[in-house]
Amino acid sequence: MRVLFVCLGNICRSPTAEAVLRHKLREAGLEGRIEVDSAGTGDWHIGKAPDARTLSAAKRRGYDLSALRGRQVAVDDFARFDLILAMDSSNLSHLQRLRPGAAVAEMDLFLRRYQAPLDDVPDPYYGGEEGFEQVLDLIEQASDALILELKGRL
Ligand code: 4NP
Repeated sequence: MRVLFVCLGNICRSPTAEAVLRHKLREAGLEGRIEVDSAGTGDWHIGKAPDARTLSAAKRRGYDLSALRGRQVAVDDFARFDLILAMDSSNLSHLQRLRPGAAVAEMDLFLRRYQAPLDDVPDPYYGGEEGFEQVLDLIEQASDALILELKGRL
């Protein structure tokens, strides 16, 4: 089972989701059974480390994102991954346009799928510190529900 998180830049929201899910998979004893990755729809941050504000907010909650590097989503991803979860509706529209007709990967809006209080993880890039905390709150909550789904699918 392979899960891909997608946002715009791949330096704030989707790397956070990647690290949070990995952490929760480890806690659930499912490490190694599920592959997790993240990518951005944009190409501005390819090869770059996550945003410094993302790194420090995540670190305060015990998640280490320092080894992650930005990459752009590619057509191959629709064959490599089983479940592709978009951080916001604009990312999902982008993915729908990119998706090859024969692709079998399931695509969804991350928060909506897991009935979080919002449908979109708000883009924290141009905002203040609290935006990065909200990203973590929403992602942690939806990841708990995602883990339950993954356990049921294994
Ligand atoms: P992300 O945040 O999509 O959560 O990684 C952003 C990062 C960079 C930009 C926008 C959003 N940007 O415009 O460079």
